[in-house]
Amino acid sequence: MININEFALEILKGTSLSQKLLRPDQDLDFSAKDLFFTINKPARSEKIKFGGQAKFPHQSALRLSSERARAIHFFANHELLAIEMMAYFILTLKESTLDNQILRRRVYETLRDEQKHLELYVSRINSLGVEFGDFPLNDFLWRQTVFFTDPQKYFAIMALTFECANLDFSKYYSELFLNYGDQESSKILEIVYNDEIAHVALGVSYLEKGRNNLALWDYYRQLLPDRLGPARSKGNQFDEYARSKAGLDKQFIETQKLFVDPYKTINRKSWKTKDDDIYSKS
Ligand SMILES: [Fe+2]
Ligand SMILES: [Fe+2]
Repeated sequence: MININEFALEILKGTSLSQKLLRPDQDLDFSAKDLFFTINKPARSEKIKFGGQAKFPHQSALRLSSERARAIHFFANHELLAIEMMAYFILTLKESTLDNQILRRRVYETLRDEQKHLELYVSRINSLGVEFGDFPLNDFLWRQTVFFTDPQKYFAIMALTFECANLDFSKYYSELFLNYGDQESSKILEIVYNDEIAHVALGVSYLEKGRNNLALWDYYRQLLPDRLGPARSKGNQFDEYARSKAGLDKQFIETQKLFVDPYKTINRKSWKTKDDDIYSKS
């Protein structure tokens, strides 16, 4: 039997893509095990190291398979980051309570889905002639791990913000790729979309338990770090159906839909900011 923390640490310390896709060959023990570790950044081999900012292709360019490969490479980067962020979060859970054992297991199951997504994306770009690491890989999402100080904040950031936005993106690009005749890529995004509903649902159920008398939206806002606005929880279209399937209530969905960031303009037409990831719709 291998302890979940040992597994999580192997993911973070492993440098190659195959080490990031590691599956335990033994049963996992989800009890607490305090391991000494210092992780500023996950280890990465030269080929998949952090650095630079990939440009997301314009929508019209996605007719070309080479540009679709570039877009899928971008999505794959987010999957790898999700794997590492989830591994990191598992390691931050110190208490040996039954709740934490269940939580480690649930997050591990989500991590396994992210591994599946990464594998699907990588094999797709390979068949389109691109290797993972051929384009720059940014670390914007990883930098949010400093805010993973408790499970509530983790779920507000990961599930209700980034994974929630991915409901919109995955659906949008699944349909767009289908329109451009690329059924294979479209199908992968459809798989990601369906899994993402369950990932958001895990966060929703966790935050529902902690919100007490607060509306979920207000609780969510309270948990989000100042630098990360709720505008990041939306993609380039707004998928109400997926949100309600994930268990978000009507009030939350309506407020989120209408939300406009008063300070920053990360609104749907342009996600261009200096230091983070970019999805450009135009
Ligand atoms: Fe994923
Ligand atoms: Fe996910």
